[in-house]
Amino acid sequence: AEDGYDLWLRYKPLPAAEARGYLKAARRVVTGPQAGETIAIAREELARGIEGLLRRAPAGSTRLAGDGAIVIGTPKDSPEIAALDLPLDRAGAEGYVIRSVRIDGRRAIVIAANEEIGVLYGAFHLLRLMQTLQPLDALDIVERPGIERRLLNHWDNLDRTVERGYAGQSIWDWHKLPDYIDPRYRDYARANASIGINGTVLTNVNADAVALTPAYLEKTAALADVFRPYGVRVYLTARFSAPIEIGGLDTADPLDPRVRAWWRDKASEIYALIPDFGGFLVKANSEGQPGPQDYGRTHADGANMLAEALAPHGGVVMWRAFVYSAENPDDRAKQAYDEFVPLDGAFRDNVLVQVKNGPIDFQPREPFHPLFGAMSNTPLALELQITKEYLGFATHLVYLAPMWKETLDADTYAAGAGSTVAKVVDGSLHDYPHTAIAGVSNIGSDRNWTGSHFDQANWRAFGRLAWNPLLSPEAIAEEWVRMTFSNDERFVAPVVDMMLGSHEAAVDYMTPLGLHHLMGTGHHYGPAPWVDDLDRPEWNPVYYHRADREGVGFDRTETGSNALAQYAPEAAAAFAAPETTPEEYLLWFHRVSWDFEMKSGRTLWEELVHRYTRGVEKVAAMRRTWAGLDELIDAERHAQVAAFLAIQEKEAKWWRDACLAYFQAVSGLPFPEGYDPPA
Ligand code: GCU
Repeated sequence: AEDGYDLWLRYKPLPAAEARGYLKAARRVVTGPQAGETIAIAREELARGIEGLLRRAPAGSTRLAGDGAIVIGTPKDSPEIAALDLPLDRAGAEGYVIRSVRIDGRRAIVIAANEEIGVLYGAFHLLRLMQTLQPLDALDIVERPGIERRLLNHWDNLDRTVERGYAGQSIWDWHKLPDYIDPRYRDYARANASIGINGTVLTNVNADAVALTPAYLEKTAALADVFRPYGVRVYLTARFSAPIEIGGLDTADPLDPRVRAWWRDKASEIYALIPDFGGFLVKANSEGQPGPQDYGRTHADGANMLAEALAPHGGVVMWRAFVYSAENPDDRAKQAYDEFVPLDGAFRDNVLVQVKNGPIDFQPREPFHPLFGAMSNTPLALELQITKEYLGFATHLVYLAPMWKETLDADTYAAGAGSTVAKVVDGSLHDYPHTAIAGVSNIGSDRNWTGSHFDQANWRAFGRLAWNPLLSPEAIAEEWVRMTFSNDERFVAPVVDMMLGSHEAAVDYMTPLGLHHLMGTGHHYGPAPWVDDLDRPEWNPVYYHRADREGVGFDRTETGSNALAQYAPEAAAAFAAPETTPEEYLLWFHRVSWDFEMKSGRTLWEELVHRYTRGVEKVAAMRRTWAGLDELIDAERHAQVAAFLAIQEKEAKWWRDACLAYFQAVSGLPFPEGYDPPA
């Protein structure tokens, strides 16, 4: 059944003409006599993929015989590869070379790497070329990842609920681990390896100390054993108060020697079970979580204590900068910068500070986080959210690569023009010793993994951008569509277009022009701009939009919260005046009157109505496009996507009508021509 379980590793037969061509190049897969487990997996993946795509399984062999071999391995295990002159110095530890070559006069394709994992990544690359109908005659590919640690962050609880998860229960069946290994764990590892993801944080940032008890470490070790040959290392979240909760101490003060010893012992215990354990991800002193500030210490004191415990074993600490205190901040967008910039340079060298793309919280659109560019002595990791907490959960079709790309391409001006967030994160701007990127996972136990077919594209896009932040959202969408659905041009082009426009559509019908946090509070689904009665002012949507009779928007310039001052002067200049601020960020940085004149010539009020209306129209157009594609793919997936698009259209209207009714009531202005409010 076409239930989506196979993701983009679908391997359905290719059109006969292409298949014939590829068959000549894929008769056998040759591995060296010393090939290890990961190369064996690469061989199996090639065999499985080729058999599916070309309807003929390649022979497995350790010897070259005739044309059409795919020779895979490293110089250590493959004499053929050792004998070739390949640019492996450019491939690094995880990269690979794919080349069309002749070996003793026989035509072959080599997939060569310095380490076995590169061979597996290269095998998936070659399969992708076939899946997307690319020529294989004159291959000359060298790839290496742009970022060192490419991680999923699961916000999974030990009871299998998933915080902000919309795809069913957690796939980690803690109860049956370590003795029962669900075959799905291997499929998870395959899927991640196919896009170069090399680490996974198994547990929620709102951490449970129980995850660090011996019984759970054994379960974690069992998962690590499954993932290891796929190049995926496990990490855990560390609850800062664990020494109290599971260690029997009366404090978790990071400067207390007993606490430090407890964490050192805990690290040793973990590494005895999981020699390649990646390290800890920590949320501390944020949203009520315990942390070093509870003891009058700093984030650096806390992070360094854990880093010291992990250092002898090669682990890292990813200390989150998403700090949102229990007191009312003056503008929560400023808190991370205020707390972390003074600590730049104070962290041990195996600490990374993990920063969300924007300064508030995964809104449909945020400007880049001002910490990027502001901490040249502290490696900053970028945290993106794959799960769509503020973007319609699993039923709204929103392709996230364009949004992530906006962040990666944003210019921090930290070292002059061109100092993009991508260059901060890949370490090139500040010469960071470590680099990392994290995506909050959208994976659960649903058959299709992500709760909808199109949300698979977001998982994949995250991995592809983590490998190469310079890839275009369009290229990533196109290869995903071809691999997941069809190479039929009548299908590919319109679906890629739909995907590329989908994020802007959601921004339009949810929070256009820099509006943010208008969602229903708590669950974050659907509109609630009117809510004004929650205990803390900044829990209320009214706090963020500040609409009244005169105008709307959050003043973050010097007449307001002055969050703008956290950006480098050249970056801040772009947002300084309402007239020159890019309109997509207008109400993020400015409070303007309803009759403010927009570039279109409309007033702000008219523009707001226009954008909300346009958002709904875009969804209606997506729905029509999709309806016309029913002959081109399987009925099962077509029907589910169609049903979800109907939900999305209904809810886009709900967003539009609710927000416009509210803003109309507040502004007292009449609706412009062309918008008819529901009766
Ligand atoms: C958001 C989200 C929380 C999450 C938090 C975090 O606030 O709603 O569920 O715990 O981000 O990133 O720590």
